[in-house]
Amino acid sequence: MDKYYHIVTYGCQMNVHESEKIAGILAEMGYRSCDEPESADIVVFNTCCIRENAENHAFGNIGMLKKLKAARRDMIIAVGGCLPQQMNKAEGLHKKFPYVDIIFGTHNLHELGQLIKQKLDGKKCVISVRESEGEICEEDRPLRTSYPNAWVNIMYGCNNFCSYCIVPYVRGRERSRSSQKIIEEVRSLVSEGYKEITLLGQNVNSYSGDMTFARLLEKIAAIDGRFRLRFMTSHPKDFSAEVIDVMADNPKICRCLHLPVQSGSDRILKAMNRRYTAARYLEKVDALRAKIPDCAITTDLIVGFPGETDEDFNATLDLVKRVGYASAFTFVYSKRQGTAAADMPDQIPEEVSKRRIMQLVELVNSQTRELSKTYVGRTIEILCEDFDAARGLYLGRDEYGRMGYFPSDEDVIGQFVDMKVEHANGVSLTGCIVR
Ligand code: SAH
Ligand code: SF4
Ligand code: F3S
Repeated sequence: MDKYYHIVTYGCQMNVHESEKIAGILAEMGYRSCDEPESADIVVFNTCCIRENAENHAFGNIGMLKKLKAARRDMIIAVGGCLPQQMNKAEGLHKKFPYVDIIFGTHNLHELGQLIKQKLDGKKCVISVRESEGEICEEDRPLRTSYPNAWVNIMYGCNNFCSYCIVPYVRGRERSRSSQKIIEEVRSLVSEGYKEITLLGQNVNSYSGDMTFARLLEKIAAIDGRFRLRFMTSHPKDFSAEVIDVMADNPKICRCLHLPVQSGSDRILKAMNRRYTAARYLEKVDALRAKIPDCAITTDLIVGFPGETDEDFNATLDLVKRVGYASAFTFVYSKRQGTAAADMPDQIPEEVSKRRIMQLVELVNSQTRELSKTYVGRTIEILCEDFDAARGLYLGRDEYGRMGYFPSDEDVIGQFVDMKVEHANGVSLTGCIVR
């Protein structure tokens, strides 16, 4: 009889890719994918804990499976990823959701198959979270779900300890893969027909394999075949002139950069332990624009960090105006147990953070809208990624990361198409193929 799995993923691209690795493990065990937990023999929650609402979201969905599990006792529920990797969280999870069968962390994802076997052999509840990161596992066979894009890890973990952030605690110290393994992986993905490669790391610029990130990028861009190359995330303190040069010299590397600034106030940046000033950040932006004037820059911003005054917040608004982001992710600071900022005085009241985030979102959206308008009438090259059944339109992005929607009689997923932009609506563009 066929056995089915259903994976629910929260969090960043790292987790999206790790869910592909989980799918690979399950497929090897003979499971097949299904769309609903109701039809699954195993449901895996791959969780995130970056902000409190990410945790609550996962808790809510795990809670919703209680009834289903009571009706189908042989169904296995597994919870993994960043949430259980937090100190002492696995036990708490077990108490809160006693019907969860398997709890695992980020450092032992590759052991999931063995944990499932233990459960199938009759163990009541398998809790296995490793404290330390261990060696990089090169054995995984991800079952990729994001064609025409393929995610490729170049490094794991983070050493930066930004004072608000939980990632270093749940992902361990930085480890880089060997350049040879990375290049081999990209080469085979391109030959399999993937058209976009996105290199992943918490801070790709501190790649410390057997060469610098700039050289690695250059080598990957030199691989034969038609594909786009993206990478994320870049920490501004390590984003170098060499990387800018490689981006400028290699047309395969997309003209866009995600450069999270977090705040425009030097006082707050210092308290965040970001190790750059607003001026230094702007210098890097200027250096990038001097070489690649049309480069789209995106960012992450946090409001309501402990001690943030109106003056600090205004400095963030000023910086956003000065840079002119193509788009930005905006977050309200969320206190994370165990991080340095959790114990800082002057935590900001919710109503102040709410007011600030609304103001910031409005500014960011107005910049995005203005930029979108400049697209109307132009022809852009889109890599078609998917079909939006609700709208009856295909969609994809240009190299700057801008989303475009268009009709097509034939299936063009995985193809580069030229789209003439007819309308701009917020972040997204609609148009028609001119080819
Ligand atoms: N390694 C990446 C991504 C980290 S998580 C980087 O350094 O850029 C993605 C974003 O979540 C961060 O850039 C930050 O803006 C936000 N973030 C992290 N911790 C947060 C917290 N405690 N509260 C609110 N936002 C947070
Ligand atoms: Fe978190 Fe900072 Fe590391 Fe990014 S660089 S993952 S924000 S600690
Ligand atoms: Fe990513 Fe969330 Fe973990 S942002 S690294 S899944 S805490």
